[in-house]
Amino acid sequence: MTDHDHSHGHGAGRELPDDVADLFTQETWDARYAESDRLWSGRPNARLVEHLTGVTPGDALDVGAGEGADAVWLAGQGWMVTALDVSQVALERTAAHAVEAGVGLRVTTRRHDLMSGAPLAGTFDLVSAQYLHPPSDRFDDIIGRLGAAVRPGGLLLVVGHHPEDEAMKLRGGHRHPELLFEPEKVAAALPDQDWDVLVADTPTREVSGPEGSILARDTVVLARRR
Ligand SMILES: C[S@@+](CC[C@H](N)C(=O)[O-])C[C@H]1O[C@@H](n2cnc3c(N)ncnc32)[C@H](O)[C@@H]1O
Repeated sequence: MTDHDHSHGHGAGRELPDDVADLFTQETWDARYAESDRLWSGRPNARLVEHLTGVTPGDALDVGAGEGADAVWLAGQGWMVTALDVSQVALERTAAHAVEAGVGLRVTTRRHDLMSGAPLAGTFDLVSAQYLHPPSDRFDDIIGRLGAAVRPGGLLLVVGHHPEDEAMKLRGGHRHPELLFEPEKVAAALPDQDWDVLVADTPTREVSGPEGSILARDTVVLARRR
């Protein structure tokens, strides 16, 4: 299965901005989403499905939810989902996809700018962040805030592109490779006394490449709050 398959290089249309600061603004993402009807594949991310199938549902927060494929999948598994993103365009798409999928009552959207430094309101049984790559100088702070939104006993799932993702290199590389992270970086941002790290892995998955399928490498960290 290909899932977080940008399928047209790193997202269709507009390139990522040169300035890292511009990579996390509503203007950038609203413009990026508005350029096409669908930026991502529309399928839930493989790592989410892999690690959360069969987990007892509760309240979930999907951070950087994009067009809502993960939120819709979670809602279909019985979760009550808050889909959070900086982009209003993405959130409108998420809400529409949830209604189309018959889970509109289980998905709430919330516009929030993670770079604002404001705490994430509420607490959740699951916080998931898929392919959100915070800037290095904000990494620990942002992972810390995601973790603070997890209830005791709840799960934090952080997935990103691994720095040694050959598939991305074959597709021309990430414009900001310094943002890609290893599992150790996520685990280091989670204090040992508060977290049990259940998974810290760098698995591969097949994606479509310029000449057939190629292997992409992910960073996956699943942790349970004590
Ligand atoms: C690479 S996309 C991943 C989308 C989705 N999770 C997926 O896997 O397809 C990153 C997402 O993070 C969102 N984002 C970027 N900066 C943000 C910020 N400052 N606060 C909240 N969300 C942000 C973007 O709008 C975008 O939807």
